[in-house]
Amino acid sequence: MSRRKAARAEATPPPVPRCDLAIRPVRRGDLEAVIAIDTQVTGLEKRDYWRSVYRRYGEAAAPGAQFLVGESGGEVIGFIIGEVRDWEFGAPPCGWVFAIDVRPDARQSGIGTRLLESISAGFRRAGVRKVRTMLASDNTLILSFFRSQGMMAGRFIPLEMDLDG
Ligand SMILES: CC(C)(COP(=O)(O)OP(=O)(O)OC[C@H]1O[C@@H](n2cnc3c(N)ncnc32)[C@H](O)[C@@H]1OP(=O)(O)O)[C@@H](O)C(=O)NCCC(=O)NCCS
Repeated sequence: MSRRKAARAEATPPPVPRCDLAIRPVRRGDLEAVIAIDTQVTGLEKRDYWRSVYRRYGEAAAPGAQFLVGESGGEVIGFIIGEVRDWEFGAPPCGWVFAIDVRPDARQSGIGTRLLESISAGFRRAGVRKVRTMLASDNTLILSFFRSQGMMAGRFIPLEMDLDG
């Protein structure tokens, strides 16, 4: 190990694995923690958005929809949301992950991995054999994470245009 790397390793203690981590479906009482994590990560509080996500993917979710949280020490420290989408863009049904967030102070201890494993297990139970996601091209952190989980560039590409002007 280089001297610089060794100094960095000494300054940053390795993350402690959370042995009591439980991955479970979201409950209404988790919503404040979910909103707080998203606000911390994105810098924008979207209370109405999260309430509507909860209505759609929470307790009254349609089959194939999943909103899971990671809980440790009695606190929600991460979440993942997705659903099975049928024949979107002509593709056979697959699992879509459209949100994942782990509280910054709880990262790099395997929670993101456990959240993705759990939602993927739910997708398998729902009968699909592929999982897809989309990410901002400049978000290297989330790209590194998904690559580490075995996800690769797929056969779809995003297109967009401005509707003004
Ligand atoms: C991406 C994210 C979910 C990862 O969660 P996590 O709990 O830290 O992930 P894990 O500990 O399970 O890490 C798994 C792998 O991801 C990769 N990874 C995680 N953090 C990384 C980092 N900071 N830099 C590079 N690779 C990283 C590594 O390959 C890691 O494997 P390793 O520990 O063997 O090196 C978390 O960083 C996060 O919430 N980021 C913000 C997400 C975001 O932008 N959400 C908005 C769009 S939905």
